[in-house]
Amino acid sequence: MSAGKNPAARAAELREALQEHNYRYYVLDEPVISDAEYDRLFRELQDLEAERPELATDDSPTRKVGAPPADAFESVAHRVPMLSLENCFDDDELAEFDRRVREGLGTDAVTYAAEPKLDGVAVNLTFRDGVLERGATRGDGVNGEAITANVRTIRNLPLRLRADDPPALIEVRGEVLIPLADFAALNRDLEAAGEKTFVNPRNAAAGSLRQLDSRVTARRPLFLYVYGVGIAEGIDLPRSHLAVMDRLRAWGLPVNEHMRRVEGLAGCRDYYRDMLERRDALGYEIDGCVYKVDDETQREELGFVARAPRWAIAHKFPAEEATTTLREVEFQVGRTGALTPVARLEPVFVGGVTVSNATLHNMDEIERKDVRIGDTVVVRRAGDVIPEIVRALPEKRPRNARRIELPVTCPVCGSEVERPEGEAVARCSGGLVCAAQRKEALKHFVSRRALDIEGLGQRQIEQFVDEGLLTSPVDIFRLADHREALVEREGFGEKSVANLLDSIERSKRTTLDRFLFALGIREVGDTMARDLALHFRGLEPLAEAAREYARERAAARAEEDKPAAIDKRLAGLELRRVPNVGPRVAGQIADFLTESHNLEVIRSLREIGVAWDSPGGDGDHPQPLSGKTFVLTGTLPDWSRDEAKTRIEAAGGRVTSSVSRKTDYVVAGESPGSKRDKAERLKVPVIDQAELEALLAGD
Ligand code: IVH
Repeated sequence: MSAGKNPAARAAELREALQEHNYRYYVLDEPVISDAEYDRLFRELQDLEAERPELATDDSPTRKVGAPPADAFESVAHRVPMLSLENCFDDDELAEFDRRVREGLGTDAVTYAAEPKLDGVAVNLTFRDGVLERGATRGDGVNGEAITANVRTIRNLPLRLRADDPPALIEVRGEVLIPLADFAALNRDLEAAGEKTFVNPRNAAAGSLRQLDSRVTARRPLFLYVYGVGIAEGIDLPRSHLAVMDRLRAWGLPVNEHMRRVEGLAGCRDYYRDMLERRDALGYEIDGCVYKVDDETQREELGFVARAPRWAIAHKFPAEEATTTLREVEFQVGRTGALTPVARLEPVFVGGVTVSNATLHNMDEIERKDVRIGDTVVVRRAGDVIPEIVRALPEKRPRNARRIELPVTCPVCGSEVERPEGEAVARCSGGLVCAAQRKEALKHFVSRRALDIEGLGQRQIEQFVDEGLLTSPVDIFRLADHREALVEREGFGEKSVANLLDSIERSKRTTLDRFLFALGIREVGDTMARDLALHFRGLEPLAEAAREYARERAAARAEEDKPAAIDKRLAGLELRRVPNVGPRVAGQIADFLTESHNLEVIRSLREIGVAWDSPGGDGDHPQPLSGKTFVLTGTLPDWSRDEAKTRIEAAGGRVTSSVSRKTDYVVAGESPGSKRDKAERLKVPVIDQAELEALLAGD
């Protein structure tokens, strides 16, 4: 306790300070003290209040950790009913809404407030004289349940408004959410504890808010956005919804950063497209957009129908989950031989497309979810992500449902299937004998980040492998010998064959990192390939390091028992000096580059003319971006993302996918995503392509 202060004054000071730090942390995203320092202040206030209970106030930040359990929730009447929204599902229905609004108002153009439709739990928060007095669920819209102790624990909800002259009474409405990442972690914890998991983040938020013991709620990372006002007494609020939202924000209430003013139907449509793109990057679930007439006077003119306002509508995104029947499970063999169970489904419309296949990931997942053939299953397709089976509905299981068995032999080549103890992934042991592995290896070899051969698509590769025209990457460079036969093929012609052969010829001149990536060494992605190329600057030094590693590993294994002791002997070797190369990667590289078949392929590729510059050519290579981290967003005028990434990395920079305080620059092009907004919030410089070019040039 600071000297000379009486306990009451100190408690008030601590409350004030903690409120300020909460606001900076949760609303501004700009904390000024460390977490440890915060905890220290928090504990000081807790101790003080424990010693002198009369000093604890309703708005004390310590009230955010939960109160002892209640028997039941009290029913409360909302002073103003909580309405629902009408839904629309397509452009025509939206146009119809806008037409009705314009007709009702007798104007041509309407200004709307556009907002994400948050997929959480609606709450009503009552502040009296600026202090949170009550939190309630929506209930039936007229009566809800008081969940005050629980809402107090919501991380970004202030218990007191930051207003010098707060309204006598105000009801604020909003939605409580749980971040997607925390939802996944929560379910993992529940499962580990043998408890029932939540079906989706909304249910997790609802379940957390309905805990009778608010100390449980306090451990759930709930957060909130406010989007409306019920009753307001003792204040004249602005007549524009967005201006009201600005006021709430100024009071320290969390208002979603994606709320925007848009003009007319066209503005709503643009907003919808924009949000659909940002959706996956938000980190919490939204299920559409809401458009609200912004002007209060116009709202009053339009009024209500039944229990929804005429001045607002929810424009729903295509549902991301649907139920269907699992007809069969087949096992696909990937580039590294990994067997992936693929579900064949009764076709179902989900996430805006018809889905008839979905991944089941691996056998562990199948066992965990207890999915069986014949089951009714929930399929999820979010954004561009591969559709997956989320869960089965055992209550609908038919009697003849069958368990899914891992095949004993590879469905493609008949080689034995191996599943090392403790690993989720089963693999075909056939290597390049297996046509499936060959196909995938070839697809990888020609892919954009590898040798980038245009005109050799997935279908052609499958055909060529099936016909025996391609068995190894070397054969690609021999396709020119089959020119006549290729021209005759269906779907090919003089011109496309010429283009293909050109592209193949051009691909011979490549870079070491692309070549290493193209080889398809397990655990070596494009970033790792780049690190290896930069470190060794040539294939031979890398191969030498791989041989040394394999040699030492064999010796260590012969002489030591414990994995840790073996690794200790290997940790200092050259191969392990490359950034991010640990025992797993090093082991894979050593295996690959000492395997005679692989060396033979590499030798043949070189013989046939595949060649690379050492990265950056000979001698000193300027690295103007050394140590700098970049994030790319939006479409740049001249460069693709990959191109920009390659250039940044060639200049010594790093490209990562998410913006944090450690990011040095965000490079933004046309229609940037939420990364740009985040950069602005975190005060990370946002630059365009021209500015990036200047940095690359070392200016
Ligand atoms: S405004 C009269 N704005 O959707 C206006 N609601 O279907 C009523 N919701 O119960 C609510 N995001 O739980 C509004 N930006 C948003 C919203 C939103 C989600 C929920 C809310 C409401 C339901 C209505």
